[in-house]
Amino acid sequence: MMRKLEKLIAAYAEKFKGQPLVVTSPGRINLLGEHLDYNSGIVLPAAINRYIYLAVGKREDNMINVCALDFQDEVSTQLSDLKPAWKLWPNYVLGVVKEFQRSGKELSGMNIVISGDIPLAGGMSSSAALACAAAFALNELYQSGFTKVELARIAQKSENDFVGVKCGIMDQYASLFGKENHFIKLDCDSLQHEYVPFESERLEFVLFDSGVKHHLISSEYNTRREECQQGLQAIKATLPNVVRFTDLDEKALIQFKGQLSEKVYNRCLYVVQEMKRVEQACSALIAGDFGRLGGLMSLTHEGLRDLYEVSCKECDYLVDIVRKNEGVLGARMMGAGFGGCIIALVEKATSQFVIDQTKHAYKQQFGKEPKVYHTAISGGSAVAEMAMA
Ligand code: GLA
Repeated sequence: MMRKLEKLIAAYAEKFKGQPLVVTSPGRINLLGEHLDYNSGIVLPAAINRYIYLAVGKREDNMINVCALDFQDEVSTQLSDLKPAWKLWPNYVLGVVKEFQRSGKELSGMNIVISGDIPLAGGMSSSAALACAAAFALNELYQSGFTKVELARIAQKSENDFVGVKCGIMDQYASLFGKENHFIKLDCDSLQHEYVPFESERLEFVLFDSGVKHHLISSEYNTRREECQQGLQAIKATLPNVVRFTDLDEKALIQFKGQLSEKVYNRCLYVVQEMKRVEQACSALIAGDFGRLGGLMSLTHEGLRDLYEVSCKECDYLVDIVRKNEGVLGARMMGAGFGGCIIALVEKATSQFVIDQTKHAYKQQFGKEPKVYHTAISGGSAVAEMAMA
């Protein structure tokens, strides 16, 4: 982190002069509760030790300059003329600026430099971390007084409206609310959370990146969302007391088999099953029953693969070969799907062996080695300590 921060501040000084405000915002993993955030469910993410770094300073005019150090790219626009750029990355920042404006906050022009070490399109939510870094930084710089929940909503809304992905709020919430060695049990309906400790000297979460770039922007994610809504509407017509998926269980859902299309039924079935697994996972975490936890992760993968249909052959393969190893308690695809990473709960003592085996097998099968990331569960968005930089 230190080197990245030093480079960021040096680049800012060279380009814009002066001392910027510097913030960091992390990426995330998700233990269970995949695709539940936009279905009013409970999710179990955690922030990890990979970050977006953002330096920002005010200008006296109305220009907004945003420079992405890692891409050696920049965009400039006027505060009065904010619209989505044809390139993707600036929109996560400009969309947040627009949301601040919409809520009536007075802003000036600004200079922004960004950098990061969250793998792109790896399912660790680099994009949400970027939007959160921007929201957190603006809130500090202009003393806007937003709460962290409001910042999470702003970051989500900017992605919904400016980028066009109808994402839920899990990633933004995790980035802002991360806490070292804790999962965040977030109720996406009430936006209340509890922290659930993950304490183990023995185990770690390892990510294996399939290298398949997921296209979240592509229609599949938004389609899943619509299919779930469609199912819920149809169920409500018969059971008016069912307002959200949490009002339903598998037994109540079964009567709709045959009435809903097979696809919509399967999406709904995944959702109600996953909601139950999240509750079980919380109990397992609290009890320190990691064998059970790993088993639940693996069941989630099957649901995402067969019912929700958001996996891909590369992730399925990774999950299968990783799970074959002794010392692996469970594994599943993580995030929106269609590529990106799988997450595995692994005994530290055997993780290097598992990694070597997996790299080798994956290369044999797909001609390239998967990237591997060890994770540490970390704190959320923060002002960077300048002493470090
Ligand atoms: C993406 C979205 C999140 C969430 C996950 C799936 O990361 O941004 O809101 O829906 O997919 O759990």
